[in-house]
Amino acid sequence: MRTQVAIIGGGPAGLLLSQLLHLEGIDNVVLERRSRAYVEGRIRAGVLEPGTVELLTRAGVAERMRREALYHDGIHLAFDGRSTRIDFKALTGTGVTVYGQTSITEDLNEARTAAIGKLVFEAEDVALHDFNGPHPSVTYRRDGVTHELACDFIAGCDGSHGVSRASVPERAIRIFEREVPFGWLGVLSETPPVADELIYAHHERGFALCSMRSKTRSRYYVQCPLTDSLEAWPDARFWDELKRRIPKEDGARLITGPSVEKSIAPLRSFVAEPMQFERLFLAGDAAHIVPPTGAKGLNLACADAGALAAAFAAHYRGDDSGLDTYSERCLKRVWRAVRFSWWYTALTHRFDDDPFGARLQQAEFEMIATSRAAATTLAENYVGIFPGAA
Ligand code: APR
Ligand code: PHB
Repeated sequence: MRTQVAIIGGGPAGLLLSQLLHLEGIDNVVLERRSRAYVEGRIRAGVLEPGTVELLTRAGVAERMRREALYHDGIHLAFDGRSTRIDFKALTGTGVTVYGQTSITEDLNEARTAAIGKLVFEAEDVALHDFNGPHPSVTYRRDGVTHELACDFIAGCDGSHGVSRASVPERAIRIFEREVPFGWLGVLSETPPVADELIYAHHERGFALCSMRSKTRSRYYVQCPLTDSLEAWPDARFWDELKRRIPKEDGARLITGPSVEKSIAPLRSFVAEPMQFERLFLAGDAAHIVPPTGAKGLNLACADAGALAAAFAAHYRGDDSGLDTYSERCLKRVWRAVRFSWWYTALTHRFDDDPFGARLQQAEFEMIATSRAAATTLAENYVGIFPGAA
């Protein structure tokens, strides 16, 4: 088999890249290790920057999003029970769109399934070959049969534990990493959200976030020790803890119900540089991870896919400048988001044994609550207005 671009990983980065290339008339195949049901069942992020919405619209997969998504003009930032609203619309002229990654994945799968044979699920033992020369290829096994896919380029969109980045010689790659000493316990429930907009709450017991997927589905998180197990968090304990951490008036309105999904996720910052190795290009979580505070992960993954699709399209028209500068341009945007996600995590979470840091958090919250300039910086980063970034 032969294709122009072999895409490893069928998450948002891989699927969006596939769809955008398809629209440019560039042949591509997506190799995904898991089943379609598994990929679509994963509960992930849900806040989209305007740039991401624009990209999904350009990709022709925005029809359901236009019907079902919620549009938010701001967020609530609560600090030890006191709440301030950050008015994105007033501060930046735009807001964010609330639409789950799960739905985006479904929409993209739907679009790509029409292209028979171009979306391969349950591809086992995917291996990358010769991407440092002119004839790269990818091998994989499906139903016990080994296949070889010859290609012009390989796009590594296989997330943080994928095979693509791991195939690059260690000496060619530099890793930047910062661990966060706690996790997020997330609960999805078929209950109406506690507020019209997201609530990010700092509390001495730990961070809490009230988010949503629709007017009838809520997504809530509380900061928890990484050593906790799900057994330690029956629904009743979760709701009790959430209620204690958010402002009283919100807690009084909180409607609880059985969890339909519950998971604990670690938080970390991770960047691999560069994002290109000859004919292998990394996109999305394969190249970078941010803590979820601020919801940048999905937006970064989509932006990488958009940049890479445009660069491949230019290549096939005879212009390699987009491919040559792909890594540099992406990393500029990535580091802006890494900085913001780190800063926002540091502002809103509880760090053990750090009374000095706790006072700094308080001072910073006061500044955001009273200074339009400080609030604007938060708002610009949240909605993804990154002047100077591609
Ligand atoms: N071979 C083939 N596919 C693989 C392999 C492999 N060796 N390893 C991983 N994959 C697949 C995974 O099963 C997954 O479906 O690659 C896909 C990667 O998808 P994501 O992890 O969703 O990463 P990405 O597309 O970059 O999207 C990033 O996901 O984790 C969230 O917060 C993050 O929202 C962001 C988004
Ligand atoms: C979510 O809805 O899952 C979500 C929202 C905002 C975040 C992180 C996660 O900052």
